[in-house]
Amino acid sequence: MKALVLAGGAGTRLRPITHTRAKQLVPVANKPILFYGIESMVAAGITEIGVIVGDTRDEVMAGLGDGSQFGAEITYIPQDAPLGLAHCVLIAREFLGDDDFVMYLGDNLLEQDLAAFVSAFEAARSADQPPEAQILLKKVPDPHRFGIATLDADGHVVQLVEKPADPPSDLALVGVYLFTARIHDAVAAIEPSGRGELEITDAIQWLLDQGERVRCELLEGWWIDTGKLTPLLEANRLILERMERRIDGSVDEASSVEGRVVIAEGAEIVNSTVRGPVAIGAGARIVDSFVGPFSAIGANCVVERSEVEHSVLMDDSSVVDIARLEDSLIGSDASVRRSARKPRALRLMIGDHCQIDVE
Ligand code: DAU
Repeated sequence: MKALVLAGGAGTRLRPITHTRAKQLVPVANKPILFYGIESMVAAGITEIGVIVGDTRDEVMAGLGDGSQFGAEITYIPQDAPLGLAHCVLIAREFLGDDDFVMYLGDNLLEQDLAAFVSAFEAARSADQPPEAQILLKKVPDPHRFGIATLDADGHVVQLVEKPADPPSDLALVGVYLFTARIHDAVAAIEPSGRGELEITDAIQWLLDQGERVRCELLEGWWIDTGKLTPLLEANRLILERMERRIDGSVDEASSVEGRVVIAEGAEIVNSTVRGPVAIGAGARIVDSFVGPFSAIGANCVVERSEVEHSVLMDDSSVVDIARLEDSLIGSDASVRRSARKPRALRLMIGDHCQIDVE
């Protein structure tokens, strides 16, 4: 079994953060989203991993390297333009050979590990009527945003449709798929969709139309397609909630650190309160401040005379003299500070596609 991880594409919904960075590398609890996917693949025993890269290839390749940090062997497959998920399978043909494989969307984050999902497919493959694909489904409140499956009364997949205006069910396709080599016939046979992409949903529908079996499983744990701010903060909350407390940095006597808190080596907490779940990255300084639940403070950030809660600060940013910062995502090397300059005014230097909510 091999894996194909999709880390190309455009990150339009997380702008401005994704003007300068791959959406799959935005951190959740101080670790890039993509790392969680690679780690769960390796935990399921899959170490031969192909990674599709697009415009942000330099950054993705610098982050993942040759895969040895994960115990994996990574092959990069460049995609010139984001022509669709099925297009990724098409261009990975040589890497995949005739092996079965997991396809994993690099911006998806799942609570459940993949091992059971993979072994269920392997067991079904050696039984009668072996499936050529396996999909993972989850009930969602907003089905028009996803690929949607319809099941018959026996729970068999009968139809798949990509982002329907009038959804036939509320069962969304989660971004983890299992395929045999039969999918290569499907991706070669389909035409681009209305949005100009070769849709994997259409390729799986093609398998159904040829009379092939597509197995499905319902996902029990949480799942987040992290491409937007609210789901990203939600993913941050869910991951922070399951971390084990670990304090490697320094905490002075005037400070208190409560609950599920991870403080990386070289971080300093001075005269402050940190109330978990919170992650504080290496070299960060928290001075005369309060860092409240569900915050992830990146490496080398500075939080001074401020209160931060339910927010993500990416590496090297600073928040100084801010009474209260909540529900925020601050990019790397950004600075938010109160100034005493006269006249008293809001002075902003904001990049494209930013959103500022003034109290
Ligand atoms: O998140 C689950 C959904 O993912 C499914 O329910 C949909 O059926 C499926 O089409 C997909 O929809 P999205 O519109 O969310 O896909 P997105 O364009 O965000 O791409 C998913 C990942 O694949 C992302 O990490 C970028 C990468 N990608 C995407 C395209 C279109 C590529 O590497 N190359 C591409 O050509």
